[in-house]
Amino acid sequence: MNKLTSPKPAGARSVDEITGSRRLRRMRKADWSRRLVQENHLTVDDLIWPIFIVDGKDRREPVPAMPGVFRLSIDLAVKEAERAARLGIPAIATFPNVEMSLRDETGSHILDPQNIINRASSAIKAAVPEIGIITDAALDPFTSHGHDGILRDGIIVNDETVEQVTAAAVLQAAAGSNIIAPSDMMDGRIGAIRDALDANGFQDVAIMSYATKFASAFYGPYREAIGTQGLLQGDKKTYYIDHANSDEAVREAEQDLAEGADMLMVKPGLPYLDIIRRLKDEFQVPTFAYQVSGEYSMIKAASANGWIDGEKAMLESLLSFKRAGCDGILTYFAPEVAQILKG
Ligand code: PBG
Repeated sequence: MNKLTSPKPAGARSVDEITGSRRLRRMRKADWSRRLVQENHLTVDDLIWPIFIVDGKDRREPVPAMPGVFRLSIDLAVKEAERAARLGIPAIATFPNVEMSLRDETGSHILDPQNIINRASSAIKAAVPEIGIITDAALDPFTSHGHDGILRDGIIVNDETVEQVTAAAVLQAAAGSNIIAPSDMMDGRIGAIRDALDANGFQDVAIMSYATKFASAFYGPYREAIGTQGLLQGDKKTYYIDHANSDEAVREAEQDLAEGADMLMVKPGLPYLDIIRRLKDEFQVPTFAYQVSGEYSMIKAASANGWIDGEKAMLESLLSFKRAGCDGILTYFAPEVAQILKG
């Protein structure tokens, strides 16, 4: 027998001697004391609900890769916005699935004041004025190649894209959007959008910068939802941040704040909790995470297979964003969570 594996060696210290009589389990013993020392809480005020919009009437198309998520025609999106407001969800973020015939090389349809995203904002604002509306000024739902910018000779041209995104942002504000959230990652977009909003009388429209948007595999189901999956040529590495980098994310956030961003967003969420914590520590500004489509789908798929408890995993993942320093989370789980939090 090997003497080294003896369970209690002679002269072994007691647990009290080892811990110095500190017992960290003491406060974990009862539900009341666990509640008393809980450091972070998830509330309905933390939720932003991303919804997909499609043309037509009374249309509710399931997104196969995102069980429980639908593309909604504007009339139904209004109903869902009403439901969200009743649940106490502060804001929604709209993303369009644009008719293929309206997509082109430069995403020009984003400049139509009557495009689907602007019509959705007007309709929602009219019916549910108390809910915040967040719109993305990126071109990807409007381009025939699925990129967020204007593509010329295989290159996403920065400055021309900024001009287009800026003009689109002003139209979105005019249609009723309260927060412009440009996700295209072009240099200079935040400052240009701020200037243009101010020049057009939209001083009160805020900017939530997708400051640190990483080139990520977790966007897959979203691309199915807005119909860019089959279109996208190449990848987005020339404009999204390399997911190996963290200092660069801080520099990007610093730049966007200097240009006038009111809020920062980190995207995706769960694999980037370290970035959230760094940004919150560094800047102390309102900080959000986008729990993206792939994160949602993973939890739903594992849950559907009986491999995890979907509800618990959902709540744990959302609370982890609060722990990391988030003020709020964009999540497809929003109505489900709001319902649970309501009890
Ligand atoms: C692009 C955009 C993306 C998402 C929202 N807007 C990423 C992409 O398609 O590259 C992803 C959202 C999600 O995955 O839930 N402007």
